[in-house]
Amino acid sequence: MTKDTHLIISSRILSSEQDTEAFALQLAKQIQKIYQVKSIDLSKALHFSLLGDLGVGKTTLTRHILRSLGHTGKVKSPTYGLCEPYQLNINAQNNTNELAKTNLPFHHFDLYRMSYAKEWMDAGFRDVFSEPGICVVEWPEKAEGTLPKADWIISLSTNDDETRTLMITSQSDIGDELIKGFQET
Ligand SMILES: Nc1ncnc2c1ncn2[C@@H]1O[C@H](COP(=O)(O)OP(=O)(O)OP(=O)(O)O)[C@@H](O)[C@H]1O
Ligand SMILES: [Mg+2]
Repeated sequence: MTKDTHLIISSRILSSEQDTEAFALQLAKQIQKIYQVKSIDLSKALHFSLLGDLGVGKTTLTRHILRSLGHTGKVKSPTYGLCEPYQLNINAQNNTNELAKTNLPFHHFDLYRMSYAKEWMDAGFRDVFSEPGICVVEWPEKAEGTLPKADWIISLSTNDDETRTLMITSQSDIGDELIKGFQET
């Protein structure tokens, strides 16, 4: 059963893009860890909502998460296409409960330019949230509550000195698990 209250990581300051990179690396390690725990149900995509103003660093964070998860190619902002799909190759439990390199889809959404709330569904992306993988969504507000509930809401804001504040709110048991591991590292 899903609880109503979930853990919240106290906000952290990202002084530079290097800090964003370090955070992404930590997150990627926790994602890898979770994929190796048998008891966690990963039949649905891990879902991260990214909130924050234009230019705050949502795409930059996503780029570092992708790189930290082993993606070596380009990462472009999906603003005009709604979604950029990637294939990752990560260590995960397979059907016979062995740890093996597994292909995992990663969908990077930017819904800023959607002209109506359900455009993401009409574009054929409903299923990627209910299948294994990772979904990161910039501008989820544009979907006006039509997206499934994210495991984490990551809020970014710019401070007067141009540093960024990052805050995580977990909204699911998997999200809680991810934060717990995060606090241990
Ligand atoms: N601590 C930081 N973390 C991430 N980016 C930073 C940081 N400080 C400065 N930046 C800069 O801020 C910019 C963030 O741009 P980015 O495209 O990632 O923003 P965005 O939130 O995706 O914007 P949009 O809403 O337009 O998609 C980059 O130029 C990056 O170098
Ligand atoms: Mg962006």
